[in-house]
Amino acid sequence: MKQYINVGLIGYGTVGKGVVKILEENKKIALRKVGKPIRVKSICDLRPIDRPELYVKNFRDIIKDPEIDLIVELIGGYEPARTILIEALKAGKNVVTANKAVLAKYWDQIFTTAQDSQTSIYYEASVGGVIPVVQGLSKGLASEEILEIKGILNGTTNFILSEMTKNGITYEDALKSAQSAGFAEADPSFDVNGIDTANKLAILSSLAWGGWIKAKDISVKGISDLDIEDVLITQNFGYDVKLIGSAEKTKDGVDLSVQPCLVNHDHAFATVENEYNAVMITGKDSDDVLFYGKGAGQQPAASSVVSDIINLSKFIVTNTAGIIPDVVYDKKIKIKVLPSGKSKASYYLRFAILDKHVLSKISGILGKFKVSIASLTQSDISDNGCAQIIIITHKTCRKNLEKALKQINATKSIVKSKVVKIKIEI
Ligand code: HSE
Repeated sequence: MKQYINVGLIGYGTVGKGVVKILEENKKIALRKVGKPIRVKSICDLRPIDRPELYVKNFRDIIKDPEIDLIVELIGGYEPARTILIEALKAGKNVVTANKAVLAKYWDQIFTTAQDSQTSIYYEASVGGVIPVVQGLSKGLASEEILEIKGILNGTTNFILSEMTKNGITYEDALKSAQSAGFAEADPSFDVNGIDTANKLAILSSLAWGGWIKAKDISVKGISDLDIEDVLITQNFGYDVKLIGSAEKTKDGVDLSVQPCLVNHDHAFATVENEYNAVMITGKDSDDVLFYGKGAGQQPAASSVVSDIINLSKFIVTNTAGIIPDVVYDKKIKIKVLPSGKSKASYYLRFAILDKHVLSKISGILGKFKVSIASLTQSDISDNGCAQIIIITHKTCRKNLEKALKQINATKSIVKSKVVKIKIEI
């Protein structure tokens, strides 16, 4: 009978340090839940660490160590993370990871390897920080036919959007503010370009529908060209701007997108500020289920990793980890994805126009492409002879709207600059 659950940690950065701290501080809680103490036996990192007695230079020494029961991968990125996960699973080790990029890109290989080697991989911290949305979706909503997943899935961009909204500052200034608050990396491109959200959406969607939805199947737009003017105008229209990852089952395929969207002031997502995340999952019988919590930061992410360690350790103690796959992945399930042009939504459009007489031209072109107007507001002509028209459309097919805007943008006698378009989510 095991005396301890021995953990090998690979990656001793911000989250790794938080994991060690929580495992030490909460060891009684873990013991009560697992029945055996959990201890960190080895830590691998590129450089020597402040715990020299645990330090291991080569990750393969952890994978080969017969005393190690569970490996935690917290280095992020694609390689050597993928190699570590695959070699660890093949060696019969159970694994915990927070690495959304590697999971989204190698979902098929990782879960096939886990199933073949009868090992488990837990990854709660990869989506939504401390929010137990992976468990919630795979276990709490196990009975459901999932119809929709919508979420604010990135703490960095939500922090930036909150700063823009609260303080009326530009994207560039809000990014600097997020960086000094520790919520944006020096290179925040994966976050602000929407890639991080797409990876998380791909994970939740694959889990929900049992096949593999790839991040590259998702239409992605980030927040870096969002103009503060639109944030302020849309506030007056009763909306907040949020970066939303959305997966919606339709009869023609799953409609997948990541983009800045307008959400009504009275929707739950409008109250999600700063580094917080929220995910709304809609099941056929459950209807809407809302998850909310801190999506970024050392302690929320580390707490989620430790929960995985505890939950997986319960199976390790009884020698049952991996016997029944935690993720039931079936590579034969092919999920049909809706072409992004067929996606239907209402939109906010802002036209910077040259004079009043262009209104009929704009409505004419929109009408020609079957884009129907729900409301229209026009500002007075200013001293420089320009005005703005704000149009809210009825639900429209994205391809038609794009064709109409292309024609309008190409007609210099109508607009002074490119028309701004933002999806209205809720
Ligand atoms: N960069 C991520 C975010 C960290 O801002 O949400 C958590 O995945």
